[in-house]
Amino acid sequence: MVEIDGKRYPTLADIRDAISRGETGPGNFVNNSPGIFLLGETDLRTTSTGSEFYDSVVRDRTGETRVKIWSWKEKPVAGLVVFADYKHDSRYGLSLEILGGKPLPSVSDDLLCELVPSADVERERKLLEELVAAVSTEPLRKLLQVAFDPQSEIYDAYCKAPAASSYHHVRIGGLIEHSVNVAKICLKVCELEFASHADRDLLVAGALLHDIGKIWSYSYDDASFSITTKGALEDHMAIGVKILAGLVARIESFPNYYEEQLTHMIVSHHGMREWGATVVPKTLEAMILHNCDRLDAKVEEFNQLIEQTPAGEEWSEYQRILGTKVYLGRRPEDEPLQQEEA
Ligand SMILES: [Fe+2]
Ligand SMILES: [Fe+2]
Repeated sequence: MVEIDGKRYPTLADIRDAISRGETGPGNFVNNSPGIFLLGETDLRTTSTGSEFYDSVVRDRTGETRVKIWSWKEKPVAGLVVFADYKHDSRYGLSLEILGGKPLPSVSDDLLCELVPSADVERERKLLEELVAAVSTEPLRKLLQVAFDPQSEIYDAYCKAPAASSYHHVRIGGLIEHSVNVAKICLKVCELEFASHADRDLLVAGALLHDIGKIWSYSYDDASFSITTKGALEDHMAIGVKILAGLVARIESFPNYYEEQLTHMIVSHHGMREWGATVVPKTLEAMILHNCDRLDAKVEEFNQLIEQTPAGEEWSEYQRILGTKVYLGRRPEDEPLQQEEA
């Protein structure tokens, strides 16, 4: 709940908790109050009967949920903090009627903390430092130290940017969180005998740098997490290659071999041309990176659906990028007890 002028208003987490407890009622069912939400991307759609609505995402500190917006005094745009009536039904989920909105900079810092999703950036910075310190290949460690120099603009942006505009790691610090996760998964893979040919240091460097182009692909200062013009025109892989070239140029006699390997890992990490890769992975490290990258994103997408689905529901809502709902029940402990046969 957030308090404004002595009145308490629910955020998404409070509404989700009430739904889990089955306390939905006709509308504004938490404290009888409208809710406060941070809007994510919004798409104008038309129903089969010709009514317009927005298919949108709303967020708070704890995560996000897809909603339908049926009426609005303020046009829904990503990054707007809105005050809205809400209702919930099991078929359509949460829907909103926006009563008013404010752009993020005009909102108090306390409210921002409640509404803007954020990773534990300090924790991720420490983990990244440990990963870099453990790289024993001199030029690769040097490259990572230049990229992640605490004074650098690049590292500052790397610690703030999200890893995506929707579905996974859409939060302040999402990029460093995702990159550190991918590096940790790659290291686990390297512990297995079947990956003994892989170059561990190259994999850590590739994992930490594979999405570095995202620092300029998404806007995060306004918490809209929307794609920038540069991101849309160039894509994070092309931007990443340019950033890598700039970093390499600052290191005397950086081996051409590693620049070529890392460039390949950046441009191929989406795995297939139809998923945006310029070339398919052609080295063992690039193939491992692609799969670890995909695994981290997918696990995060499942985690979000698990956390956002009200307790007791067997299925999550349909998730477009997975192309399915996720099955969440029942576990053996949830099954009704069987009568013992006489
Ligand atoms: Fe990527
Ligand atoms: Fe990634």
